[in-house]
Amino acid sequence: MSNKIIQANNYIENNRNAVNPRYRGKYHAMPPVGWMNDPNGFNYALGNYHLFYQYHPYSAQWGPMHWGHFVSGDLITWNEQPVAIAPDTPYDESGCFSGSSFEKDGKLYLMYTSVSGERQTQALAVSDDSVEFKKLGQVITTEQIPSDSSLTDFRDPKLFEENGVYYSLIGAKDADGKGHILSYKSADLKNWEYLGKVIKDERAHVCECPDYFKLDGKEVLLYSPQFVATDGIKYQNQHSNVYAIGKLNLHTGEFEKTAEGEIDSGCDFYAAQTLKTPDGRRVLIAWMSMWDRTLVTAPDGYSGAMTLPRELSVIDGKLYQNPVREIEKYRSIHYHIEKKDLLETLQLPNFGATQEVSVTFEIGTAKKVGLKLFCGNEHETLVYYDVQKNCVVFDRSKMGKELKHGQNEADAYVRYGNVTVKDGKLTMRLFLDVSSCEVFFGDGECVMTANIYADKDDTNNYLFVEDGLSKIQKLDVYSLEINKNSLEERK
Ligand code: FRU
Repeated sequence: MSNKIIQANNYIENNRNAVNPRYRGKYHAMPPVGWMNDPNGFNYALGNYHLFYQYHPYSAQWGPMHWGHFVSGDLITWNEQPVAIAPDTPYDESGCFSGSSFEKDGKLYLMYTSVSGERQTQALAVSDDSVEFKKLGQVITTEQIPSDSSLTDFRDPKLFEENGVYYSLIGAKDADGKGHILSYKSADLKNWEYLGKVIKDERAHVCECPDYFKLDGKEVLLYSPQFVATDGIKYQNQHSNVYAIGKLNLHTGEFEKTAEGEIDSGCDFYAAQTLKTPDGRRVLIAWMSMWDRTLVTAPDGYSGAMTLPRELSVIDGKLYQNPVREIEKYRSIHYHIEKKDLLETLQLPNFGATQEVSVTFEIGTAKKVGLKLFCGNEHETLVYYDVQKNCVVFDRSKMGKELKHGQNEADAYVRYGNVTVKDGKLTMRLFLDVSSCEVFFGDGECVMTANIYADKDDTNNYLFVEDGLSKIQKLDVYSLEINKNSLEERK
């Protein structure tokens, strides 16, 4: 292990106990201390799920990037590993930026962006045991960047294999300052050849963190376009995270897009990456945060978290997401009602800080119907369907904390999402974890993710209805009991 890795691991050991746990989630991956951003190298490899992440252990602010590392047997309980790579060689002395991983011949390879000063190149590291990584050097250098592409915005390689050939999709920016993605191919992971432009997004600054996979007979490209201007209720965050459905030409590298959409309509979601499970599911995880906001937990010694992993499917040209089914093994206390009129606010049982609430409403004559969460005397967060606006709303403006927002956002509190109401019914499935809420609407057609920094006494949750009558077709509330030691029994 390099000195920088030993130093980082020592720092973590010596400082983890100073972290204030008040807002820390129980089933969302979070850094033990310090700063976390993008998921990296998200993969099932050498018998485990691996989640690496952009990590600056030494403060709760972004800094020279290391790769932190968790492993999991079930995508819910995350076990911390030593830091995987650190900025400790001349070509990555300014940081080891985002990238992906690949299992080959019983070894785990990491392909990441090596940053030195302003220069961004791509480098490789390898491990036999997925704990200690050996750096193999730069594999795509500045000379291999096409002349109409920026030398300083060239990052986040997504590595995959097709018919024995390796491909890497890399986030970039062209000479006019517009985002695009470049593609490269290789026979051996070490020697790479430029293929072509995958996609250009005129709306974006840099297209960060690409991903590509096949699912349900379709091909899907994900990326995180920076600074896309808000368009109605779309692209409300400082930076967006989108999917495109289409076809990747492996000869030209070009992706022909037939449909596109935003992955998550909430406040805190960026840099999504996916893996394939051994049983063939495509699972996504993302950074549950957003650039340029107030870092509420920074005084507590850390910032950043990952979303709950989500199973993906493509239905009628749209990307659907549902929580990984593994979370259901953690359900414990259960409350159920069905077929009940909702005339007024109804208090839900309080099973603590980690809960799943699943409710199907018959909307009826109401103008608004949904949930009030994290409520106390003064605070509340609303998640509801607005009949007049025909959209779902996530409103954390009364959560009790003020948040600075980025220059590209109207605010950091209220977000809207599109969802199809079928036969007058709408299901909302919520996952609450101490200071976060992820809502899956419909069959996962729309998802909204946000952090909620409520006060200690803001623990009540309600169903509410406004200006009319709705019906609860079905309501299930579960406590989620996350106990590290019980992982083996639950498998
Ligand atoms: C996305 C990103 C990536 C980059 C990393 C640096 O959030 O900006 O493009 O590799 O973060 O930490």
